[in-house]
Amino acid sequence: MNVLILGGGGREHALAKKISESPLCTSLYIGPGNPGTAEYGRNIDLNILDAESVAQALDRYSIDLIVVGPEQPLVEGLRDSLEQLSALKSRIFFGPGALGAKLEGSKGFAKDFMQRHGIPTAGAHIFNSTELEGALAHLQNQRAPYVLKADGLAAGKGVIITSDRAEAEREIRELLGGRFGEASKTVLIEDFLSGREFSVFALTDGQRFLILPEARDYKRVGEGDTGPNTGGMGSVSPVEYVDDLMRNKVLERIVKPTIEGLAKEKIDYLGFVFFGLIEVEGEPFVIEYNVRMGDPETQSVMLRLESDLLEHILELGKGEPLSPVHFSDRAAATVVLCSEGYPLSARKGDPIEGTESVGSVEVFHSGTKREGEGPLLSWGGRVLSVSALAEDLPRALKQCYEAVGHIRFEGMHYRKDIGR
Ligand code: AMP
Ligand code: GLY
Repeated sequence: MNVLILGGGGREHALAKKISESPLCTSLYIGPGNPGTAEYGRNIDLNILDAESVAQALDRYSIDLIVVGPEQPLVEGLRDSLEQLSALKSRIFFGPGALGAKLEGSKGFAKDFMQRHGIPTAGAHIFNSTELEGALAHLQNQRAPYVLKADGLAAGKGVIITSDRAEAEREIRELLGGRFGEASKTVLIEDFLSGREFSVFALTDGQRFLILPEARDYKRVGEGDTGPNTGGMGSVSPVEYVDDLMRNKVLERIVKPTIEGLAKEKIDYLGFVFFGLIEVEGEPFVIEYNVRMGDPETQSVMLRLESDLLEHILELGKGEPLSPVHFSDRAAATVVLCSEGYPLSARKGDPIEGTESVGSVEVFHSGTKREGEGPLLSWGGRVLSVSALAEDLPRALKQCYEAVGHIRFEGMHYRKDIGR
């Protein structure tokens, strides 16, 4: 089985490590990958947003399975384009087509889907660019804090939460005025939910599903959850406040109705579903769906997964009976190391030292680059993610932070309170 993973961040590095460990994996390719993934397979130069470029790689490397890391190619319809190019043939493409990917690519679509299937989520009203007056009037009747969401992908900047009515009005005008182009021509005004967040991940063929260990991430850049939002500054798995009772509620009220909803609506779906959840007074609600794994949640989740991810994917992809998921009851933690200025800017090109001397800890590459035999350089906002698996969370964190102490690059910063 020749496998191609699309993407080049920490999530893809963790997926590459896990898939490379499978006896079912003959050759592993990562496109474009990063210096970290190169340890587990061969990086190939391709553009994940260009179907022709991906199709060429599929033939050239006799790829049998494609696993897609990030959402953008899925939302843009990579699967559909490859089908049109007759590039998939008997290959398995693990990621939904454009319709299924609307669960992440259109928050309005996802909200309507949840409402149709009785899946608990925040109440919301949806407005398009011809409905500015209606949106402003609706805001008058909402209570603070106001939650505004651009319908489409907006590079993580599409959710605005503010208690200032005047600011909310300004934001609505700007969003509907096209701040994010098409992505914000439709806006949701949502009820604010207050509670503790966590994430559940499923693999599905649109009928059947398997559930991976849950996780949570730490979104704000600063300690004590302060400062601007990021893609995620760290993660832990398991999550202290998620017990069997909560897992069961999530399974019965959220995961099962979601997969049944896909089946009922005849939405072909083979891939990951990431349920971004919030617990409000003991009850789970969906904040968002993603059609991919989380980053940096994957780094922690993969460390706990003991069964063979590739086998799970293939059984779903081929319609074969499903093997059970096995995972460790130990705890995993991940601390993300960022470059100066992140998330407002991202300085690139600083040499990184100390990634070699970290013992049993995994150092996943998120944004790095190496030219030939040259030094490892920072190459993005999130540079490295340092993960450990141990008896319990305090020990996993201790190992992560010890390893972090050996790593250096100019301007490096990270949160010191992950898991606390
Ligand atoms: P998203 O981009 O959908 O992940 O949203 C970013 C973050 O905004 C979430 O992780 C939550 O912390 C927060 N958020 C989104 N929707 C709501 C809501 N309805 N109530 C409270 N917080 C929310
Ligand atoms: N860490 C959040 C995400 O991957 O969307």
